Amino acid sequence: MFDDYLSWKPFFEIVPMEVGDCSEMSQLHGQRFPRQWNDGEFQNLLLQQSVFGFVARQTNAFFSRPLGGFVLSREAAGEAEILTLAVNEKFGRQGLGWRLMQAALREAATRGGESMFLEVEAANRAAVGLYRKLGFEKVGERPAYYAGTDGTRSTALVMSRVLR
Ligand SMILES: CC(C)(COP(=O)(O)OP(=O)(O)OC[C@H]1O[C@@H](n2cnc3c(N)ncnc32)[C@H](O)[C@@H]1OP(=O)(O)O)[C@@H](O)C(=O)NCCC(=O)NCCS
Repeated sequence: MFDDYLSWKPFFEIVPMEVGDCSEMSQLHGQRFPRQWNDGEFQNLLLQQSVFGFVARQTNAFFSRPLGGFVLSREAAGEAEILTLAVNEKFGRQGLGWRLMQAALREAATRGGESMFLEVEAANRAAVGLYRKLGFEKVGERPAYYAGTDGTRSTALVMSRVLR
């Protein structure tokens, strides 16, 4: 029994995003990005027919279903894009980013998407590593695209992959 306790680890399921998730997503977004998106921004996006998303919810927590991460995506006229992706730092490097992205890729293809695009800061090693592993390749570069809170500018990579 004590051994079970010591080896306890969180398990997650990936489920479609709902409007009720927006407030927690906003909080997590604020922890992982310099500019937080508020829950109204998430709600407005999610109410658009072309927009969809998935959340990772812990299945073996005692009193609640903590949010492990989320991905928000859009598909229109055969072209899909990742709008945002974040995983709670405390659950990092456990495959949640990979699983969320797989769910978004599958749903985008089901909706008729032929390719998926995204933008990522070139210096974001974790995200660039994840996207490369998923088969994304660099198709463009936007120098000085992102503005840091300290006024510095950084390069964005545009990456894409086919969905079929
Ligand atoms: C990027 C992010 C979503 C990755 O989520 P994650 O659940 O930790 O990633 P995974 O466990 O699924 O990792 C999958 C692969 O991504 C890469 N990766 C993830 N974290 C990494 C890190 N810290 N350093 C280097 N590569 C990393 C690896 O290739 C990894 O595969 P491996 O573990 O077999 O080596 C997460 O770090 C995050 O939320 N970052 C802040 C927000 C952000 O940058 N979002 C993307 C904006 S475009």
